[in-house]
Amino acid sequence: MKIEHHKSLKAFNTFGIDVTASEFVEIKSESELESILSKDSNKELFILSGGSNMLLTKNVDALVLHIAIKGINILEDFNEFVVVSVNAGENWHDFVQYCIKNDYGGLENLSLIPGYVGSAPIQNIGAYGVELKDTMVSCKAIEKATGEKHIFSNKDCKFGYRNSIFKNEVKGKYIITQVSFKLTKKDHVLNTSYGAITEALENKGVSKPTIKDVSEAVIAIRKSKLPDPEEIGNSGSFFKNPVISKNHFSKLQESHPDIPSYTINENNIKVPAGWLIEQCGFKGKRWNDAGVHKKQALVLVNYDNATGQEILELSKRIQKKIKEKFNINLETEVNII
Ligand code: EPU
Repeated sequence: MKIEHHKSLKAFNTFGIDVTASEFVEIKSESELESILSKDSNKELFILSGGSNMLLTKNVDALVLHIAIKGINILEDFNEFVVVSVNAGENWHDFVQYCIKNDYGGLENLSLIPGYVGSAPIQNIGAYGVELKDTMVSCKAIEKATGEKHIFSNKDCKFGYRNSIFKNEVKGKYIITQVSFKLTKKDHVLNTSYGAITEALENKGVSKPTIKDVSEAVIAIRKSKLPDPEEIGNSGSFFKNPVISKNHFSKLQESHPDIPSYTINENNIKVPAGWLIEQCGFKGKRWNDAGVHKKQALVLVNYDNATGQEILELSKRIQKKIKEKFNINLETEVNII
């Protein structure tokens, strides 16, 4: 294991923000992780996975552990289903494609989500009607302070909308090293009710879709709306979709009859933040190299050399405007560092 000093993190965060880490080490196995935790236990540690859900606003004055542990293993193999365990450093989309190739169903709607497998449970990644929690069996994590291994079952993770125990009670305490999923081998349960998926499949003339068809439809939709981090720096949705009361929603509907919504329960309604941001005139706007994506206003972008501070300031201007116009507090989805 080689510890590097003053390492640029530009290539390690999908926003492409150029800050440095005072110390940086790539971790390729669980034993390397254990050894660094026992040796450098008194150092400040910063866990870096795929860097796809963070905005770095300053240099990181810590030992950055880049969790790059690779490997996929079949734990159980039955006629109907399989349990697959994946190490934290595998690229999420490559893993989904491995499942499609082997005809393991359940993750196809989560195609093309950037990042690594290890950070997927932290925010319970989700798209097009499916969330990680629907198929995840458990995840293995190492406690930073003690080096002890711990298995978190699906229930232990207390998953919610872009939320889990790792963002709350045990925030910053564990390093996820492995995640396992239960996936179908036949009679796949497809989730194609999301409007754009239905449309994409119809356009292709597919009446009995396979998981590969669904994955391809999702890839096409994402490519048409969301910027590719390889081309324009971004972290996907910058904000969560806010949940408001039914009363509040009814009032907004009077002045904005076309406001889109999803019912959560009797009293609460979720409104798409992208729509709110577009209504405030931010969509497609750019200030220096920081901007709001032209096809999806929920995504803030770094055109080239924006600083984390510039993106953060833009996000605060958006939050202020949404509060003034709609009396809604937008919460960030990405972690601000
Ligand atoms: N909309 C606008 N203007 C915009 C963007 C969206 O009016 O600029 C409207 C759309 O017309 C639509 C609604 O908002 O009526 C919802 O838009 P979309 O289907 O694009 O989904 P979203 O709610 O903006 C969420 C997730 C995405 C996920 C998609 C699909 C959150 C915070 N975001 O976005 O997740 O891919 O649904 O399931 O829940 C991510 O987390 O990084 C991410 C990309």
